Amino acid sequence: MDEKQIVGEKAAEFVKDGMVVGLGTGSTVFYTIQKLGQLVKEGLSIKGIPTSVQTEEFAKELGISLTSFSEIESIDIFIDGADEVNSELELIKGGGGALLREKIIARGAKTFIVVADSSKRVEKLGALPVEVIPFGYEMTEKHIRAIGLVPEIRLNRENPFITENGNYIFDCEISEYVQPERLERMLNMIPGVVENGLFVGMTDLVITLDQEKCCHVKK
Ligand code: A5P
Repeated sequence: MDEKQIVGEKAAEFVKDGMVVGLGTGSTVFYTIQKLGQLVKEGLSIKGIPTSVQTEEFAKELGISLTSFSEIESIDIFIDGADEVNSELELIKGGGGALLREKIIARGAKTFIVVADSSKRVEKLGALPVEVIPFGYEMTEKHIRAIGLVPEIRLNRENPFITENGNYIFDCEISEYVQPERLERMLNMIPGVVENGLFVGMTDLVITLDQEKCCHVKK
């Protein structure tokens, strides 16, 4: 079993009967969702809120019931992968382009569990996706550069990559350290920036493997 599968499946143990579950996007949480599908077939009753069309289709295929924000009071648990995790459990997400929906769900969830293979552990957060609206994106890029980031537009072949919300993404190198909360605030003040991939003070648990390849849950 590979690392992503071990940590992904472990996270499913935190899901209990009756819960509303935020379902993340990516190759690690894939295994969580697959496991939940199996548990649902065995009688587990949950309602899922997907973070992307890809996850929505996968959950439907597995027979996981889905719900919407108008039907629920809150989200009990959100499980998702990450692109970078530091020792403070601060994250960078958005490699798959679903950062905006992921952040809305993470903010609304009572518990946020991250599933991450060892390649995701970093000393310093370094590669930050920033979602921007297409209008005036050239100007937005200049403002992002002015706060010390090095942005590069994400491409899909030779055209800009379009998110499920109809926006563009700048992949930004964090060249000089800025405290993540401060960086978030600075980005959110730029007109045209919709959201960024920093997840600070949101993570409750990170499930990774230790050197003995045992699941390790870090709070
Ligand atoms: C999706 O937008 C991302 O935030 C993913 O959660 C992240 O890229 C992790 O994906 P993997 O589990 O495939 O590495």
